[in-house]
Amino acid sequence: MSAVSKSYDNKGDPIIAYCTDRTTKQHALQKELTEATLKNAPMSMMLGAPEVLTFGENFLHLIGAKRVLDIGTYTGASALAWALALPDDGEVFTFDISHENYKKYGVSVISKCEKTFKKIKAIEGPAVEELEKLVANGQAGTFDFAFIDADKSNYSKYYDLALQLLRSGGVIFVDNSLWSGSVTVPAKRSDESTGAIHALNDKIFADDRTRSALLNFGDGLHIAFKK
Ligand SMILES: C[S@@+](CC[C@H](N)C(=O)[O-])C[C@H]1O[C@@H](n2cnc3c(N)ncnc32)[C@H](O)[C@@H]1O
Repeated sequence: MSAVSKSYDNKGDPIIAYCTDRTTKQHALQKELTEATLKNAPMSMMLGAPEVLTFGENFLHLIGAKRVLDIGTYTGASALAWALALPDDGEVFTFDISHENYKKYGVSVISKCEKTFKKIKAIEGPAVEELEKLVANGQAGTFDFAFIDADKSNYSKYYDLALQLLRSGGVIFVDNSLWSGSVTVPAKRSDESTGAIHALNDKIFADDRTRSALLNFGDGLHIAFKK
């Protein structure tokens, strides 16, 4: 399995491989974490697509982001990407129901660079509840960017909570928005994850609170810009 791209699934498509090879840029720590995750971590297919992470890093620079919500930590690849792209006083709040994989694989790699590691605040627990706590604690409107990449059944709730927590002009990346193409097959939408992703794609398209674009990139990336 390639350590360079989530185009694991797209190896047969030369156009996707061509674009991915000319998009993905990884810091040495990202290469190390990718390798460790693919080699040793359980369910390594959950690893964030490097080309999507590179694209997200570009957005953080573009919008001058300082505070990021990273919903779904796994081994920490997306949290690391955002931490590398943020200024020294930036913060990544990374949420997971269990940080076992982050502690086992991510921490030992990322902590090699203290200034990057210290930007990451790991919050363990159900992400809906933890995001609701941030809203209740007066954090609405204080974040610049959100990456939604946890359990698909809660995708719509994550989107609504991220929208509350983002400032005007903030950006949401919803990962896996095509779910290997299954959202395009009506018969597959009875599957809980497929149905939830399909419903959120429709919801974002109809949402007056954002401007948006659904891209055939990685496993599908729905980008929403908060008005
Ligand atoms: C696709 S992985 C995240 C990948 C990561 N963003 C990356 O770039 O490598 C999804 C993660 O969501 C977590 N998760 C599942 N249900 C959750 C929940 N209810 N609340 C918080 N995290 C959850 C899983 O434990 C898993 O680590």
